Amino acid sequence: MPKTKTTEYTSTAKWLHWGMALVWMTSWTLGILATHWRDELNPHHELTFLHKALASTLLLMVVVRVAWRLKNRPPALPDSMTVAMKRGAMVGHVLLYAIALIALPVSGWYWSSVADKPILVAGLFFLPPLVDPDPDLYDLAKYIHTWTSWFCGALVGGHLLIALKHQLIDKDNILAGMLPKVRR
Ligand code: HEM
Ligand code: HEM
Repeated sequence: MPKTKTTEYTSTAKWLHWGMALVWMTSWTLGILATHWRDELNPHHELTFLHKALASTLLLMVVVRVAWRLKNRPPALPDSMTVAMKRGAMVGHVLLYAIALIALPVSGWYWSSVADKPILVAGLFFLPPLVDPDPDLYDLAKYIHTWTSWFCGALVGGHLLIALKHQLIDKDNILAGMLPKVRR
């Protein structure tokens, strides 16, 4: 029997997407509040601690997510999209995985290692340092994490706007394929 084209992500993929999206967006907001409202909101580094404890869980979740993704194909994109748009979507997703979900948390891990500061993952256990402490590399590590975080803010903002465009303007089923199934 011919296989029908799937239009939905698996429920595991949906849980991983929305769980990690929530952790990612909260971590990003905490990072901004911790640094730019330091005196008002972060006088004793409470928000920095929360930022690191939460964001570092992405390092573990992304391993599960990538393993799942390699074994399960995503739904086919609608025929209404041109080849160029489909390629653009693929590149965008690869960038989200490679930079927002892998390189950004690794750059935070690198910065804390260089600075000889601990990372308590989810408040439960310490992450081993990625490299030896080195005060000479502190500014470079800070620069990399800060600018990667702003680049990723723009990347995720673009991802959100494109999802809304598909839903509101193109009126295709792309967003529906990532939303929970509603039982009728
Ligand atoms: C192991 C993971 C991570 C560690 C250890 C880490 C560590 C840090 C540290 C120490 C700061 C400076 C906070 C302060 O000065 O009080 C910071 C800032 C920041 N982090 Fe992270 N981070 C991690 C992952 C992430 C992730 C996944 C995101 C995005 C979701 C992110 C976004 C930011 C942002 C937006 C800032 C503020 C940048 C600015 O100064 O404008 N970080 N991070
Ligand atoms: C409210 C915010 C968000 C919305 C509405 C949203 C929506 C979507 C939708 C509709 C898809 C399916 C796209 C398709 O089939 O072409 C998708 C895929 C994806 N999203 Fe999001 N997303 C959000 C936040 C995020 C965040 C914060 C991240 C990570 C930083 C992220 C990473 C991804 C990735 C990597 C995929 C590709 C999944 C795959 O095919 O393996 N998303 N998103």
